[in-house]
Amino acid sequence: MPKTLEHPPTAIDVDHQEAEAKQALVDSLLKDRQIIMASNRGPVSFTQHADGRFTARQGSGGLVTAVSAVLQGHQATWIAAAMTDGDRERARQAEDAGETLITPDETESRFKLRFVVPTQEAYHDYYNVISNPLLWFLQHYLWDTPRSPDITHETWAAWREGYVPVNQMFADEIIIACEQFDREPVIMLQDYQLYLAGGMIRERRPNAIIQHFIHIPWPDPDYWRLLPKEMRTAICEGLLGCDIVGFQIPDHARSFMYTCEAYVPDCSIDYANKCVQWRGRTIQVRHYPISIDAEAVRRTAYSQEARAYERYLPTHWNEFTILRVDRAEPSKNIIRGFHAFDRFLEAHPEFQNRVNFIAVTQPSRMDVAEYRDYLDDTSATVGRINAKYANVETGWQPVQVIMGESYPRVLAAMKWYDVLLVNSIIDGMNLVAKEGALINERSGVIVLSEGAGAAMQLGNEALMVSPADVEGTAEAIYQALTMPIRERQRRARRLRHSVERDDVSIWFRDQLADIAEDAADHIGQAEPTGTQVA
Ligand code: G6P
Repeated sequence: MPKTLEHPPTAIDVDHQEAEAKQALVDSLLKDRQIIMASNRGPVSFTQHADGRFTARQGSGGLVTAVSAVLQGHQATWIAAAMTDGDRERARQAEDAGETLITPDETESRFKLRFVVPTQEAYHDYYNVISNPLLWFLQHYLWDTPRSPDITHETWAAWREGYVPVNQMFADEIIIACEQFDREPVIMLQDYQLYLAGGMIRERRPNAIIQHFIHIPWPDPDYWRLLPKEMRTAICEGLLGCDIVGFQIPDHARSFMYTCEAYVPDCSIDYANKCVQWRGRTIQVRHYPISIDAEAVRRTAYSQEARAYERYLPTHWNEFTILRVDRAEPSKNIIRGFHAFDRFLEAHPEFQNRVNFIAVTQPSRMDVAEYRDYLDDTSATVGRINAKYANVETGWQPVQVIMGESYPRVLAAMKWYDVLLVNSIIDGMNLVAKEGALINERSGVIVLSEGAGAAMQLGNEALMVSPADVEGTAEAIYQALTMPIRERQRRARRLRHSVERDDVSIWFRDQLADIAEDAADHIGQAEPTGTQVA
């Protein structure tokens, strides 16, 4: 006898049905269509050895792991900028050999690659003048507006000779990759370095299926006004060349629609249905909170390499341990975090000698002056706090900085904290908070910025702080360190479950399901490829 349900469907049944329906959509989409992924930083980077051989190293970034997890058996084509000498040389050899797509490793790789190879000057302008100091700073509200930014003739030159042409090169390479396939592939563009590419592809390939996911926040239109009209309009219109524009959280998706309304002539916004009408097309505006690959993170956290770090990391611990893990990046608000710790030690001297603050910091984008200055200021702040509190008799140094980028070491450290401080000014998501929630073994408490996208998911169980509130952050540290163990355990359990449930494969699956569903009409018109306008 077939089993019949004796009760109305529960929330779990509904979730399960929804998951199956989405997976079916993804399967039907990928049955005969390829994915073309494009991001500035590629999934692998090449090193050339003295004997001429190349080895490819896969990055540990969330995007690569997510794509690998979801593709299962399919192979994606990845378009990325050549960033190392090895990448450039590998790209040159591919070109000489007439190889359209590079396979990094014949047996294992889930990706084939095409490199975009700008001149070093164009890449510098695109990456070190426009993408990071300008767009990243704008989108994280990092300017001290009475003083910065100054949009000078150099900025304009970098826009015209760097950002625009490198985006055009990405668009060109993507179009070449599209031509390899019989059916219109799904193009997935990533992030702020490639804002113009969608529009450029659309011009040449009107039926292309294009989605763009923006990993970082999207500020309000007033702040975008600091960027000249030509630039901000080009950015919005570039994105409106896509079928779907995705953000981490609904607030950023809404800000994007407001920005289009403010700066794109002739567009109309349907806020209820979350879409923009522009030049006869409908562009969906969605949100997909990114997460981590829980299984892969656990595997690394319990790998031999991570365990080796566990042997020496305890020299950093104390009766209480506060941890932070960041790229050395102004948006991470590292210096205010130290000020809050200083205030905490001052207000609660009973904790002196008993608590260590460990900052695992990875230097980042050192070609950009603001990043170098921020790292210098961070070191100076640490020096001041240590000089103020260090105890020569016991050898206690309240703040300890561990520099470097070993991911196994980061995860090994995360097992131990009592408090994880994530006080970013604003953050698209912040995966450190999710990694900590999954890996920590001491029922540690997360002190989390209201500005982090992760607050949407973790906000109920973390202690929330406003990022500029030094006093409030110091109080939150105190509250976390004095919280009854039962409450710590309850919060930690819920945080862990939440991260296990919504892992990164869901982030990627939901995007593909929406492409399959919302772009269905459009996909119907997209065949056959032979009718493309050149
Ligand atoms: C962070 C952001 C991503 C961004 C990346 C670029 O990870 O969350 O949105 O694309 O930085 O970093 P990179 O080191 O390649 O400049």
